[in-house]
Amino acid sequence: MADTAHVLVLNGPNLGRLGVREPEIYGHASMADLEREADGWAAELGLTVEVRQTDDESQLVGWLHEAVDTRSHVVLNPAAFTHYSYALRDAAAQVTTSGLLLVEVHLSNPASRESFRHYSVVAGIATGTVAGFGFDSYRVALSALSHRLQD
Ligand code: DQA
Repeated sequence: MADTAHVLVLNGPNLGRLGVREPEIYGHASMADLEREADGWAAELGLTVEVRQTDDESQLVGWLHEAVDTRSHVVLNPAAFTHYSYALRDAAAQVTTSGLLLVEVHLSNPASRESFRHYSVVAGIATGTVAGFGFDSYRVALSALSHRLQD
């Protein structure tokens, strides 16, 4: 039987403010709630997950390098970095070009919001994208990732 796949669930700037930040867009639940939920979904799917959040671009780049080095798959909410961070895009590309899966997720649907949110510099190198379903975006991403690994 194959080893249990490990997934880093990485979250970018301002997502540590979930529950407080614009709840009409991002909901009332916190990052700690997401961690709890993700542990439950992972257990059901036979994955192990680690949820992390940072406001720091270089930290996020470092975590993506770590994913490559430890052969971990990634669920990534790049937050505002989605729209302009080529450094993050290049780090994320190293994940997918090394044969690992990387799913871009968003709580909201950026395509239905301000025009600066319509473009993702990460989408083109991601395995796939899930957006607009709140925490369910992460659940769907983990489920899709798990199914892809079984293919
Ligand atoms: C977000 C969407 C981004 O446009 C925004 O900058 C965020 C959160 C989301 O999850 O909906 O911080 O990635």
